[in-house]
Amino acid sequence: MNIALLGFGTIGSGVYELINLNKGKFGSNFTDLESRKSSPVITKVLERDITKDLGDSVGVVVTDPKEILEDDSIGLVIALMGGMDFEYEMIKACLKAGKHVVTANKAVISEYFAELLTLAEENGVVLRYEASVGGGIPIIGSLKEEMKINRVTEIKGILNGTTNFILSKMTEEGAGFAETLALAQSIGFAEADPTADVEGYDVSRKLSILSSMAYEGIIRDEDVYKRGITDIRAVDIEMTSSLGYVVKYLGHSILDGKCDVYTTVEPVLFKEVSMMSNVNSEFNIISITGDIIGELQFYGKGAGKDATANAVVGDALYILNIVGEENLPRPLRLNRNLNKMGTGLF
Ligand code: NDP
Ligand code: HSE
Repeated sequence: MNIALLGFGTIGSGVYELINLNKGKFGSNFTDLESRKSSPVITKVLERDITKDLGDSVGVVVTDPKEILEDDSIGLVIALMGGMDFEYEMIKACLKAGKHVVTANKAVISEYFAELLTLAEENGVVLRYEASVGGGIPIIGSLKEEMKINRVTEIKGILNGTTNFILSKMTEEGAGFAETLALAQSIGFAEADPTADVEGYDVSRKLSILSSMAYEGIIRDEDVYKRGITDIRAVDIEMTSSLGYVVKYLGHSILDGKCDVYTTVEPVLFKEVSMMSNVNSEFNIISITGDIIGELQFYGKGAGKDATANAVVGDALYILNIVGEENLPRPLRLNRNLNKMGTGLF
């Protein structure tokens, strides 16, 4: 089964590197050389500008979606263009054409959650979207699988890397809002239109995906009460710091009783010593409370090329049936030189 990639931006290029340039790293069993050599590869990349320099390594770059939709050798499409309408239409067309889809697009998933999952099921294919929430944090799989038996009643977290990066820099270095946003854009954390990050749409989309999954209903992102962070000034940060508090941008939802849901996205204050206050830069934290497991917290990189590409490739490997199989143990050497372990001070 060949793979097609829609979009060769920050995450698309990361996925390409992991799948095509590191293909020897995965196979159904890494002791089986033949299966490593026959690992699936990305054979086509869709971009809109054929003249764009994508580096020497990229194979066939196409601009016509038909080149992918009508190519029977392509069984899996990885959708990483961002935006709404075109990506939605492409995902739909791929599912209808019997192709599995992996995407990181939370705008499309939150808006068309039920429709796309139904379409996948009707066409006997799989749609996966792990990277749409929390970047590299495996939160979708955990909710869908490991926490499935729980009745989840609360979700809260720092769910946007760009705004956490901005607020952290403003707090730690006294940096300005605009310059830090520009830096987050240049590193590849921000959305193509960063209004989604700083005005709360990105968090409300992620929160609506998690809440819909956890509460087994449809929470639309436009129903989430949201306030952006654009009016937070250096003086506000200084004042809250002097009182021992840290400003964080929190997404929060609660299920009350059987079907009352409350959801908010807004800047809030945490005491300096709290766990949330110490989640900085592009890192995210997601806390989920279930009736059996209690509170679980998931922490890791919520934005950026490698962490997000890792989540996307994990979904692809699941579909290709490469994960889930146990690798055979290989010989390891136990080293008795414990200097590498540090000094006992962490
Ligand atoms: P980028 O803007 O870096 O990349 C998008 C790529 O898709 C660009 O090369 C763009 O080309 C191309 N593209 C856009 N529209 C079209 C189109 N109509 N036809 C063909 N190609 C098109 O975005 P990211 O890689 O940062 O994000 C991709 C997705 O991943 C988004 O949905 C985003 O929300 C999600 N995501 C991103 C994370 C991150 O840290 N960046 C983390 C988690 C999820 P052009 O240059 O011409 O616009
Ligand atoms: N723009 C998003 C963020 C990318 O900053 O969190 C990850 O979803």
